[in-house]
Amino acid sequence: MNDELLHIPEEEYQDLIRPYTDAMNNVRMRLEVLNKDYRKKNNNYPIHFIQTRIKKRASLEKKLMKKDLPVTVEAAADNIRDIAGIRVICYFEEDVYAVAERLKQQQDLIFIRERDYIQNPKDSGYESYHVIYGVPVYHVDGMEYFPVEIQIRTIAMDFWASLEHKMYYKFEGNAPENIRRELKECADLVGFLDRKMMAINEEIQKYSDEEEE
Ligand code: GTP
Ligand code: MG
Repeated sequence: MNDELLHIPEEEYQDLIRPYTDAMNNVRMRLEVLNKDYRKKNNNYPIHFIQTRIKKRASLEKKLMKKDLPVTVEAAADNIRDIAGIRVICYFEEDVYAVAERLKQQQDLIFIRERDYIQNPKDSGYESYHVIYGVPVYHVDGMEYFPVEIQIRTIAMDFWASLEHKMYYKFEGNAPENIRRELKECADLVGFLDRKMMAINEEIQKYSDEEEE
């Protein structure tokens, strides 16, 4: 096969990702502002940390091929909505929804899609709240929206997802049944841990409320 059909020229790739990088940094800034303001009003930070990433050229090409799309920047812009990705790691499950809710209130963002894998975990056991927003980016000749995928999850969910991803990678989606089962068991333990920690936190809140009285 002609090799050119499998690759996006580096220069075209750089031009493609520039506005996505701007959109991603814009959302990161919004999240940092939210976190600080929330701290001021509720006396605690909901966000532990924020990671951002732009899909690598090779990974973008691979995804286009997997979807049977032409390996071009045009096809990427029209079909791939996770070129810009943000991962928000929160302390507790309630923080995940607090952050999600406040993003929803930002009227200049265009809601594209939401997937709540905390209410409906994937078969693998994966838990996380995903949302895609169109983010306005202003250029010299006007404004355009660029999609940014935001994954919001707890530290415990992130622990599981990071390790599972690292291990599962080897099997390319075809892990033996016993490994799949054991990973699912770990996901259940992670859910248990999250609920237990949240209950302890609520208990602790009661003590500090009493002190204030
Ligand atoms: P993609 O084409 O992979 O983006 O799938 P999609 O458009 O259906 O999006 P989905 O909501 O499934 O989210 C995809 C992203 O969620 C992946 O890129 C991973 O970061 C994460 N993810 C989804 N399922 C799993 C899983 O079982 N394990 C881990 N570790 N991560 C997952
Ligand atoms: Mg993805």
